[in-house]
Amino acid sequence: MRIKSYGNFGNMNYLYKFKQNILRNKMEVEMSQVTIKVDNAVKKFDKYTVLDHVNITCNKGEICGIVGRNGSGKTVLFKSICGFVKLNEGTITVNGKVMGKDMKVLKKAGIIIEEPGFLRNKSGMKNLEYLYMINNKRDKKYLRSVMENVGLDPYSRKKVGKYSLGMRQRLAIAQATMEDQDIIILDEPMNGLDNHGVQEVREYLLQLKKQGKTILIASHNREDIDVLCDKVYEMDNGRVISEK
Ligand SMILES: Nc1ncnc2c1ncn2[C@@H]1O[C@H](COP(=O)(O)OP(=O)(O)O)[C@@H](O)[C@H]1O
Ligand SMILES: [Mg+2]
Repeated sequence: MRIKSYGNFGNMNYLYKFKQNILRNKMEVEMSQVTIKVDNAVKKFDKYTVLDHVNITCNKGEICGIVGRNGSGKTVLFKSICGFVKLNEGTITVNGKVMGKDMKVLKKAGIIIEEPGFLRNKSGMKNLEYLYMINNKRDKKYLRSVMENVGLDPYSRKKVGKYSLGMRQRLAIAQATMEDQDIIILDEPMNGLDNHGVQEVREYLLQLKKQGKTILIASHNREDIDVLCDKVYEMDNGRVISEK
């Protein structure tokens, strides 16, 4: 683009519009990098404030962690992001869409919040197959690879009712990631895992990050989070008390 003359008002106007366009494009690029944005979130249960003006930004392709002791508000925050809990104040935007306005619940995300309800008298693999079929999808070979990725034996006939807490947690992670969603929200995914399991899940999450997934993860165990995350928010008593 060539601008030959600044000499008349018409060209000045043109230049002004040109600059505005550049600024707008820049803003759009910046906006598109942000996947999850929580702005001044306030949630009260009766007179108790459990989220107190919380601000969080998770950029595309990042692993963001929320740490904080039990009761600090991590799960309520995640439920708000998923649309399961309605805020009293503030906004949550996911991929440019405002929760409660542009969408009722977050659909395009892999989510673990609290323990998923698996069929106890079926194997882990069967559970995944059933869940996968909800969207009319069948691909045993792929699901077997998902099971293997989280360290479960896809050929085991062991029923989920007989699984250890750690195995159920692995299956939950498989369930949250099998749909190949771009956003993955994991509330305390390391619960019940031994050191080796934690290590395996960490590696799996880093592999997902390499594929460009955006991952939000909460834990009361700081160590799980520090090694994994690009950004860590610490919550206490419903507030974000540090960000690094
Ligand atoms: N449905 C609810 N009704 C009333 N209080 C709740 C509800 N859910 C969570 N809380 C309260 O909100 C606070 C934060 O809980 P939570 O988000 O589960 O903490 P964390 O996940 O960090 O352990 C706690 O004091 C908890 O008792
Ligand atoms: Mg919790």
